[in-house]
Amino acid sequence: MRYTRRALAAFAGLVLLTTVAACGSGDEDSGAAKVEVFTWWAEGGEKAGLDALVSRFTAECPGQQFTDGVVAGGAGINAKQVLTARLAQNDPPDTFQVHAGAELTDFIDAGKVQDLTTEYDAWGLRQALPEGLVDDLTVNGEIYSVPANVHRANVVWTNPQVLSDAGINTTPTTLPAFLRDLEKLRKSGIESPLALGRDWTQLMLLEAVLITKLGADKFSGLFTGETSWNSTAVSAAINDFDKLVDYSNTDRDALDWPDAERLLIDGKAGYQLMGDWEAADLEAKGFKAYDHFTFPGNGKVFQWLADSFVLSTGAPNPEGTRCWLGTVASAAGQQAFNVAKGSIPARTDTPTEGFSGYQLDAVEDWKTATPVPSCAHGSACSQAWQNAVNSALSAYSTKHRSVTALHKALAAAAKQFIKQDQN
Ligand code: BGC
Repeated sequence: MRYTRRALAAFAGLVLLTTVAACGSGDEDSGAAKVEVFTWWAEGGEKAGLDALVSRFTAECPGQQFTDGVVAGGAGINAKQVLTARLAQNDPPDTFQVHAGAELTDFIDAGKVQDLTTEYDAWGLRQALPEGLVDDLTVNGEIYSVPANVHRANVVWTNPQVLSDAGINTTPTTLPAFLRDLEKLRKSGIESPLALGRDWTQLMLLEAVLITKLGADKFSGLFTGETSWNSTAVSAAINDFDKLVDYSNTDRDALDWPDAERLLIDGKAGYQLMGDWEAADLEAKGFKAYDHFTFPGNGKVFQWLADSFVLSTGAPNPEGTRCWLGTVASAAGQQAFNVAKGSIPARTDTPTEGFSGYQLDAVEDWKTATPVPSCAHGSACSQAWQNAVNSALSAYSTKHRSVTALHKALAAAAKQFIKQDQN
């Protein structure tokens, strides 16, 4: 039986859902060829970024019409389920958002995306993108997706007013100092000083602590099999993570990242660890009085992830999709998109006009900092591995709060998926 998209969404348990036919610009029947673009950019800075790309696409691709295939939910937590079901039914959107790295490899291995090597050469993308990023997008000499940006994950966002009201006027550079500030904030009357959301946002926090405890190389090795998960350093990191969770809101498992961000905006929390899409989102929501710092102890490590777009196997409108991808690939497209999205362009020759101070700093950091990938955002680990880690965190946070059980589950997932990846 073929399910309708609405039925699939219900199946995935979606609360906030916008389906292809339901919304977005360009859904009126104008006779133009439609290009369905599947993302999870439904609101705030994310939607502003998508809208900027759509404007350029509309101008550059006459006769083609954008169709919005958005499914809300941070980090694609809902969209990925809907996409998986649609691909299994051979009902692909023309193009979809996917993270560069291990997550993209899943789709390449399953034959769900088409080779774009010819387009890369025609668009001069090999020269315009950093070599390491092209490597992460290449499998067996072929390239399957066009990156739109690079985001940084390991950033703590703050409400400076809340902090200064509690007498916190310095930036913690170590984990113990951060824990001391969280305690100070709590004593000042802020019950949940660290705003936190559901599973994947907890994974981001855990990854940041692991970077602090292990350093860049050993952290990256956790996802290649070069670093063991069964070490005292990993166990110390999980213990520190547990202490941080103690300072978070107890309703965390019911919150997506913008809900947790709301606690920061409303002055109910002082800190939130989140990727740098938060800067654009805070701006889009009119909260300009924020500040940020790199997660304490991460030093000059830039935990990266990249959003990219593919040409689906069996895409109904391949020609229009190539025009969409060309828009994403262009320097002008990357400039318009990134100004609104808060990320930095994947192309190194993109003009930085219109970028915020934060973005200009991030452009410089990306050139000099040590890059490490992210499991929560697919650059480090496959989707199946991410799912396993997210359920381990969900069980830890909602059920047992046992660091030993969490450690065991994380080590078991690594054992299973590193073994699978190597086969
Ligand atoms: C995506 C970002 C997005 C964030 C929150 C990440 O996985 O790469 O583009 O802003 O999730 O939804």
